[in-house]
Amino acid sequence: MTITTDRRPPDPQTPGRYRSDSAEFGACPGAVALARLHTRVVLAAWDLEELAEAATQVVSELMTNAIEAHQRERLDAPVRLTLLAGLRTILIVVRDSAAGTPRPEDAGETGEHGRGLIIVDALAARWDCRVRPDGGKTIRALLRGARHA
Ligand SMILES: Nc1ncnc2c1ncn2[C@@H]1O[C@H](COP(=O)(O)OP(=O)(O)OP(=O)(O)O)[C@@H](O)[C@H]1O
Ligand SMILES: [Mg+2]
Repeated sequence: MTITTDRRPPDPQTPGRYRSDSAEFGACPGAVALARLHTRVVLAAWDLEELAEAATQVVSELMTNAIEAHQRERLDAPVRLTLLAGLRTILIVVRDSAAGTPRPEDAGETGEHGRGLIIVDALAARWDCRVRPDGGKTIRALLRGARHA
């Protein structure tokens, strides 16, 4: 899937500017819980509670995958979570430094693994993955509120 981000809706409070928040999380126990809490706090501040449940689920799955990938490679680098708000949309951006890419087809026959990207696919209007020249990757997921115009 592909997301076009060149026409993000502007911040209604500040025409011409976008609301954004960026935070880094180390690949350690508790990082995903912190990222979930961070997402809830930021969306509440932006008056986007209607998207909070879906956003925290998507953040949870993408951050878990990124942190697991860092742990597999024993990388010290943090994982960066960026939230970008439109009028009634949220773009979730998770940037990690690990090799490999999301493989939705990995869903196991037992159903014990491969659920994360299925959840992301179900909740996001669109999502995509861009591999960066430095070997890491950036995954983006766009969520739309029910009242999105
Ligand atoms: N950020 C990432 N870096 C590298 N590989 C990834 C990344 N995200 C996902 N993958 C790959 O895609 C596969 C599928 O991810 P998905 O989240 O759907 O399932 P899972 O993590 O294996 O299991 P579950 O999320 O159900 O616990 C992963 O097993 C992994 O191989
Ligand atoms: Mg997963």
